[in-house]
Amino acid sequence: MSFCLLKKTIDEGDTVVIYLTPRQMYRVKVDRDEVFQTRLGALRLEELIGKPYGSRIQCSKGHVLVLDMTPEIWTLLLPHRTQILYGPDISMILMNLQLRSGSLVIEAGTGSGSLSHSIARTIAPNGKLFTFDFHEKRVEIAKKEFREHGIDSIVNVQQRDVCTEGFQFLEPLKFDAVFLDLPNPWEAIESAQRVLKSGGKICCFSPCIEQVQRSCQTLAKLNFLDIETIECVLRPYEIRKASYEKLKFCDNLFERSDSVNDELFPKILDHSDDQDQCSVNEDFEHIDDNGINGTNKRLRTMDEKDIDKDLNQKSEKDDKTIKENRLINYWVTYMNTEVTGHSGFLTFATNFIF
Ligand SMILES: C[S@@+](CC[C@H](N)C(=O)[O-])C[C@H]1O[C@@H](n2cnc3c(N)ncnc32)[C@H](O)[C@@H]1O
Repeated sequence: MSFCLLKKTIDEGDTVVIYLTPRQMYRVKVDRDEVFQTRLGALRLEELIGKPYGSRIQCSKGHVLVLDMTPEIWTLLLPHRTQILYGPDISMILMNLQLRSGSLVIEAGTGSGSLSHSIARTIAPNGKLFTFDFHEKRVEIAKKEFREHGIDSIVNVQQRDVCTEGFQFLEPLKFDAVFLDLPNPWEAIESAQRVLKSGGKICCFSPCIEQVQRSCQTLAKLNFLDIETIECVLRPYEIRKASYEKLKFCDNLFERSDSVNDELFPKILDHSDDQDQCSVNEDFEHIDDNGINGTNKRLRTMDEKDIDKDLNQKSEKDDKTIKENRLINYWVTYMNTEVTGHSGFLTFATNFIF
């Protein structure tokens, strides 16, 4: 198998995803002599061999799906040997380091290999990642995983203390990017610069602002350009259908109130029949919703507007209390309360040789 390519059928030795729900996914290495237990019953792994990826497999209390592994899912399911980088930071790193197929990249430390898998797929098939960790056992396990995941031709992992031994041994190779996830990245920046191309990018990941300060000072002293630090925090929203009693605000939506700020709430104000003007996209418009806890904003669908219009027309004839007590299905957004907070700061800079 290769994490860089999607496969059609499952082979023995593949690391697959056993999917029950979005929150119940498991990584499983296919071994014909093993049985994997799920809450829906036992799964004989021999049964999977030769089946297409995406197959539904019946267990005693329901079915599971068997999916091909990707770097994104690996990051969610991998065995942790260290703190790891997650999707939001990884995506910022790949983009700001401008990685692409064929890029030459250095990473230190390898840790649990979460970032290494995403870099490998981005730079495949002709790029090369040299990744270093001074921890012998972590290097050994990473080497085995990279081989099993079919990315060992792209990723070269070595045991090395990059702060004391540096990267100069890689010369005369010149690299497009260097990524440092170490407690003291500033100690490796000078030797990284020696092997960076002109225009090459560097990124240091650090959880504490004092570490960022020291890295920035070193980058500035070494004349790196475009030094920039960002913090990447994901704020996901869930969109669900929910039933509420018809809410009062719907009646007022058709009336323009001069006290409402046009710039802040243009979508609420313009409620003509012209859907292009009054919708955020084809289906939704933003409105304030005091129905849940007084602070939520939610999305209002065009369907819902139609329901409102119908109701308003009927209400002229119908008993008003029936309308007011009626439950309506709304599409609502909830801010996910389990938002992961601060992971670290990403400091980017460009090595420019005049
Ligand atoms: C937080 S982990 C990296 C996690 C990795 N980015 C991932 O996504 O899985 C930091 C790693 O750096 C290694 N490390 C710390 N100082 C080092 C040094 N001077 N040279 C090489 N590796 C080092 C540690 O052994 C550890 O495995």
